[in-house]
Amino acid sequence: MKSPLLKENISTSQNLSTIDIFEKAARKAGQTLIDDFGEIENSQVQSKDVGDFVTTSDIKTEKILLEILQDSYPNATYITEESDEIKGDKEIIVIDPIDGTTNFIHGIPFVGIVIGRVFEGEITDGIIFNPILNELYWATKGGGAWCNDKKLHVSNRDNMSNCIIGTSVPHANRGYKNYLNEIDSVAKNCAGLRSTGSAAIDLSLVASGKTDAFWQRNLNLWDICSGVLIVNEAGGKVTQPNGKEWTVNSSDILASNLFVHEQIVEKL
Ligand code: IPD
Ligand code: CA
Ligand code: CA
Repeated sequence: MKSPLLKENISTSQNLSTIDIFEKAARKAGQTLIDDFGEIENSQVQSKDVGDFVTTSDIKTEKILLEILQDSYPNATYITEESDEIKGDKEIIVIDPIDGTTNFIHGIPFVGIVIGRVFEGEITDGIIFNPILNELYWATKGGGAWCNDKKLHVSNRDNMSNCIIGTSVPHANRGYKNYLNEIDSVAKNCAGLRSTGSAAIDLSLVASGKTDAFWQRNLNLWDICSGVLIVNEAGGKVTQPNGKEWTVNSSDILASNLFVHEQIVEKL
């Protein structure tokens, strides 16, 4: 088992794995977020749209991530939330510098730096790093899912009525026609709904077996790419909410512990 947290002198070691490089970038950028979180009142907030904020911290964080990642992957394509696509070769690095910006500007510590690698439509590596809580969720295809040095497993609840299920209540212009019906239908048939304000963190909770499932619509690849791999590697299942295959082009997601997947599909 590899434990990124225990690795010393990470910046000087050769032959770093993809996860090592992602961790190195996220820890450097994460220090900026820790500093800014402490001085949250001073952070300038620009509005991209109603209820969709971008802070100076998002922009600074993305710049640091890109600098470090481009050093190791100079020819990759970069798909990031805060910049235009950087076109490169078939190796794609996906970045969300802060997933949970609204939490961040309210001083709520549910935030994640998301970095994923996609190759030929497959997510091969991903991390979600919460610098405030010092939690590094990470997975490589076929290598299991981890939080720091602890292996992750989804829950084993097999009856939806005992399950805690994550979602997000759409705000501002994010609403869609059926969302209140979906929430009603799932809430009536489970033990409770939860919403962290970060889709990446919501997915890490499913992978950790703390919640049993999560669904949301209208997401971007940078919100969920690492989380999809981490849930799958923790033994869970990811599809679209209607049960169809999830691909990197899907914006709607249902992730679960596998056992209650079909029960939730029936309610959505
Ligand atoms: C948002 C978070 C949130 C989800 C929104 C996303 P951001 O990302 O993932 O949980 O409900 O749809 O846009 O803006 O904080 O990077
Ligand atoms: Ca996001
Ligand atoms: Ca973001």
